[in-house]
Amino acid sequence: MKTVIPVASGKGGVGKSIFVANLGVCLAQAGKTVIVVDLDLGGSNLHTCLGVRNSNAGIGQYIYDKNIRLEQLVLETGQRKLFIVPGDSLLPGTANLSYFRKLKLMKELSALVADYIILDLGAGSSFNTIDFFLASQNGILICTPETTSVLNAYSFLKGVVFRSMYRSFPPDCPERELVHSYLTARIEGADRSVEQLIGQLASISEASAQQARKALEAAQVRVVLNMGRHSRDIAIGGKLREIAGKNLNTDVAYIGFLPYEEHMSSSIIRRSPLALLDPQAAYVKALRSVADRIISEPASGSFPYYQDDDDLRAVASAALQ
Ligand SMILES: Nc1ncnc2c1ncn2[C@@H]1O[C@H](COP(=O)(O)OP(=O)(O)O)[C@@H](O)[C@H]1O
Ligand SMILES: [Mg+2]
Repeated sequence: MKTVIPVASGKGGVGKSIFVANLGVCLAQAGKTVIVVDLDLGGSNLHTCLGVRNSNAGIGQYIYDKNIRLEQLVLETGQRKLFIVPGDSLLPGTANLSYFRKLKLMKELSALVADYIILDLGAGSSFNTIDFFLASQNGILICTPETTSVLNAYSFLKGVVFRSMYRSFPPDCPERELVHSYLTARIEGADRSVEQLIGQLASISEASAQQARKALEAAQVRVVLNMGRHSRDIAIGGKLREIAGKNLNTDVAYIGFLPYEEHMSSSIIRRSPLALLDPQAAYVKALRSVADRIISEPASGSFPYYQDDDDLRAVASAALQ
């Protein structure tokens, strides 16, 4: 069974690419075939974390050249069973993913042949990133125990929860309208919870409320706390769980606490992931338990979302003018 693991973060620089590279190594060492995919367009550095040279076509070219198929971009990493689809290393900063390319990319990603396909997503809460995150129910959010990182992680969770509910309803229906206006009202400072939104959906129909609850369940996110230095950092992680539970009705599951590792930067200089350079490092040991957990808790598939045809309408109306 194939598992797609999208890896996201509210904020950049929290160790997402290092995590993806080392998780790839750990899963490959456990005998799984793994493809890591660099979808951090404009900031791609996954190849560097794995010591792969950046002289090959990647997602950046794929987006511009409709004749390239995703499977043509898969490269060996030098590590047995571990492969990479590089980012936009030849065309840095130029990638702008259109709606159609996004759908094609998602389809071709899930057609790649491997046990695990790990997606290194761009930081932030754009719809593109959230849609990739929702493409699988195995998403992992990386957060560090800094206030800004926790706040950005919360914004990301909020984006995931609302987008999940929104896309669980078909286009042009009153439920979508309600979810959308609720999100906008919340941004304006209204202190209302997701539970209240579900209450309002119930006034349209009980089935609508049920559908929103299912979407909420599908949007549950697993969190890895990275660069932990003190035991009090665990409490900071607990804050995220608390506010996500209270405001978003979402249960944040922590699946890893990865320590700050002094030697991390030398692994990048030596162009080899820490899991290969120093398998006994505390970071690598903690990561191996994340990998074991991923293997022992198999995928629960994906939720049947409707597409967001608003994107499609925008593209179409521009073309038809
Ligand atoms: N556990 C860790 N301990 C120490 N430094 C880390 C750790 N994880 C990541 N880093 C460092 O943080 C920086 C950003 O990591 P990176 O994976 O590129 O972040 P992102 O992909 O989230 O932008 C790098 O310099 C990396 O060496
Ligand atoms: Mg990165």
